[in-house]
Amino acid sequence: MNYKNMFVEALFIQLQGTLEKTVLENMIEKPKYENMGDWAFPCFELAKVYRESPQTIADKLKQNLELPALFEKAETVGGYLNVFLHKSDVSTYIINKILSEKSNYGSSNTGHNKVITIDFSSPNIAKPFSMGHLRSTVIGNALANIAEKSGYTTVKINHLGDWGTQFGKLIVAYKKWGDEKKVKEKPIKELLKLYIQFHEEAEQYEDLNNEGREWFKKLEEGNEEALSLWQWFREESLKEFAKVYDLLGVKFDSYNGEAFYNDKMDHVIQLLEEKNLLQVSEGARIVEVSNDMPPCLIKKKDGTTLYATRDLAAAIYRQDTYQFAKALYVVGHEQSLHFKQLFSVLEKMGCTWHKGLAHVPFGMILKDGKKMSTRKGKVVLLEEVLQDAIKLAEKNISEKNPTLAGKDEVARQIGTGAVIFHDLKNYRLNDIEFSLEDMLRFEGETGPYVQYTHARASSILRKGNFQQTDEVMQLDDDQAWTIITTLVEFPNVLKRALNDYDPSQIAKYTLDLAKSFNKYYGSVRILEEHEQKQARLALVYSVQTVLQEALRLLGIQAPDEM
Ligand code: ARG
Repeated sequence: MNYKNMFVEALFIQLQGTLEKTVLENMIEKPKYENMGDWAFPCFELAKVYRESPQTIADKLKQNLELPALFEKAETVGGYLNVFLHKSDVSTYIINKILSEKSNYGSSNTGHNKVITIDFSSPNIAKPFSMGHLRSTVIGNALANIAEKSGYTTVKINHLGDWGTQFGKLIVAYKKWGDEKKVKEKPIKELLKLYIQFHEEAEQYEDLNNEGREWFKKLEEGNEEALSLWQWFREESLKEFAKVYDLLGVKFDSYNGEAFYNDKMDHVIQLLEEKNLLQVSEGARIVEVSNDMPPCLIKKKDGTTLYATRDLAAAIYRQDTYQFAKALYVVGHEQSLHFKQLFSVLEKMGCTWHKGLAHVPFGMILKDGKKMSTRKGKVVLLEEVLQDAIKLAEKNISEKNPTLAGKDEVARQIGTGAVIFHDLKNYRLNDIEFSLEDMLRFEGETGPYVQYTHARASSILRKGNFQQTDEVMQLDDDQAWTIITTLVEFPNVLKRALNDYDPSQIAKYTLDLAKSFNKYYGSVRILEEHEQKQARLALVYSVQTVLQEALRLLGIQAPDEM
């Protein structure tokens, strides 16, 4: 249900197709002041077509327009046609809808019987889980939640970076300088140290790089020593990643990473050969894509395969296994060329399903305006950030609400909520400057602010002893109008967020709803005895339900008390 569309529909019929629906939709404005109505249609364009004054046209429209149900009236002023929704009817309609649908409000079946695979997080083994991977993790997780709410079946895939030349380097470094005990104690820190040491020494001794390449070749050929070290590094890393996923409450359906495709690449190369797409260039195998892109490298001179080859195998495997309608890759925008090449090779291979593939890029997290680099050790560890945020939340709770039940769990929800929200409130393509202070701020436009608003609503419901009944609540409260129109918007926001793969629209929405609710709370004594009291509590219930659901979609929990 979309009131704006109803208005567009009515105008379209009245104008007998003089202007297209999309044109009308773009012309409609929100009036400057609330008392001027809910939408305004400017008549200046039509004035040129009909050679009449804008005001005359507005008046004529007003006379003839068939206002849809739940619209109260139309008025004209200064060449505008303003329409008003019927406030109490719409209010009553929407709160009763939310009372009966509860957290299902906003759900749809757009994706019924369709599978969407979401490749996200995908950190690299033996490297720390960086802030960059946080972006992919929280955006991907939110998109999966939104897709599920829209009826899709999702497959959440962690395409681990668990294969590649870096393992050759790591094996060399471990054999030279490694200490089994230390790695067991702090795997990621220790492996990272080895990785950094390798790069430092390699700047002086060129030969080290050759040794690394040799060991990767051995790994690809199945050398036992290489394989068992690799397996060990992988297991230790996964244990560490699991801690982060547990803190964030993120789950995957598959951990098939790059190594999973080792035995699936010959098939890809065979397909490429059959279609005559493979060419030799300076000893390497490549596929030419199109003039404005460099060719896609499939096999190196030394016969080892590449990131792109693995992604080709992965895409084909996913289509065979899941028959996806859509396959998303939530990966930083530095990899845009890679995905363009990948999709275009698949198109050339005649895979009709390539149309369902989409790269969902995002901006970088910068430190002092620069990219953080693992090689030089310039990384901020996500687990530390999360632990810091949780500690800060604990401190807040012990100051403000020391007797709170389940303190530790609430602190985890608030701390991680702050970090997740800080990321998701930004349009995903923007670069974000890393700032721990910003991330841990609990006031202003933050996750804890929204969580706090939700807890306030819960507390009002407890104090008002709100009980759900089957009785229809009649809400006639002009002061609630901004909340009502925001509640009405929720399903449309979800639709847009999925369409644009942009969870920030939901994060911004929660801020709007929280602000309008807090304003209402500041001016209306909700718990005071009043004929509208039950209906007002039903309004609070609606806000609480929608805030909780919107936060859930973002991957954030909403404690009832904090
Ligand atoms: N491991 C890669 C990285 O950290 C991301 C992998 C993304 N997924 C994919 N199918 N290529 O850069």
